[in-house]
Amino acid sequence: MTKGAATTKRIGVLMGGESSERDISIRSGLAIYQGLQEMGYNSVPIDISKDVMAALKKDKVKLAFLALHGGIGENGAIQGMLEVLGIPYTGSGVLASALAMDKEASKKIFIYHGLPVAPFTVVTRRQKGKGQKTSDSPIPSPDFPLPWVVKPVAEGSSIGVSIIKEEKDLPSCLEKAFSFDQRVMIEKFIPGQEVHIGILGQKALGGVEVRPSLEFYNYEAKYTSGLTDYIIPPEIDDATYEKSKDIALKAHTALGCSGASRVDLRIDDTHTPYVLEVNTLPGMTTTSLLPKIAKAAGLSFNDLIEEIIRLALKE
Ligand SMILES: Nc1ncnc2c1ncn2[C@@H]1O[C@H](COP(=O)(O)OP(=O)(O)O)[C@@H](O)[C@H]1O
Ligand SMILES: [Mg+2]
Repeated sequence: MTKGAATTKRIGVLMGGESSERDISIRSGLAIYQGLQEMGYNSVPIDISKDVMAALKKDKVKLAFLALHGGIGENGAIQGMLEVLGIPYTGSGVLASALAMDKEASKKIFIYHGLPVAPFTVVTRRQKGKGQKTSDSPIPSPDFPLPWVVKPVAEGSSIGVSIIKEEKDLPSCLEKAFSFDQRVMIEKFIPGQEVHIGILGQKALGGVEVRPSLEFYNYEAKYTSGLTDYIIPPEIDDATYEKSKDIALKAHTALGCSGASRVDLRIDDTHTPYVLEVNTLPGMTTTSLLPKIAKAAGLSFNDLIEEIIRLALKE
């Protein structure tokens, strides 16, 4: 296959937006746009925080390459808009995107499919009328032991995530998570290793073990170079690696995902891989995890971009 041969359609690379992951999205988008340019594709970068519908029309976009992370870019909203406009797009559809972005909904589906997840409970904050007064659902005392992970239900990049070892820290961590979402999940902390598996075209490509030097794989550890070691393949035994890939693919399929995704897992000392989440629009800078996994599987960054385009046009 010659470079640039996956399509002659004009490709709009959608990036930016107003989510808390805007900056990362722009980094992903520019890397994808550069790759498309190198390969000779007819493409144009589009920041969705301006009038996205007008830009898609003006630039005569016939395929949308989504480089969006978080918020309306990842939760099915942009996908729905593109469906209405009749423009094909990369990655998962409306329902799979919405389910994957919502950690409560996706965990319920994983449980239905018998996939291992960390025990959890969800606390809801409701706004009372127009004022700022709020009422929380009663704070449950989780029936699983500390440490706990407190996280907003629908965020990404570890934004608003805390790990607590003592119950007295719960109110302040809930408060922090509530500043990002009206639903907050308290999850059992799974000790052990962290492995992320890349999925491409309904196959597990491989995985990477992430070993942050900080307390956990938080925003700083994710985006500051040198703070995390990335080990490919993960330092786990073959059977656990196979099980991790199998569970990750099942999680991707259970939500109905398509194209590329990255599944985050924790592996405890019984070698059980627990699914944390499926990322339907994983980071796509040249140093992001999915491109690293693809590289180890023999696909360059530009090969990965082309494969994602082919999958979008097939589905
Ligand atoms: N149950 C858990 N046990 C151990 N670590 C966790 C757990 N949940 C989250 N973490 C840590 O927090 C990070 C972010 O959590 P994750 O659920 O993947 O949300 P995000 O969408 O913000 O990436 C994970 O990569 C992991 O390091
Ligand atoms: Mg994650």
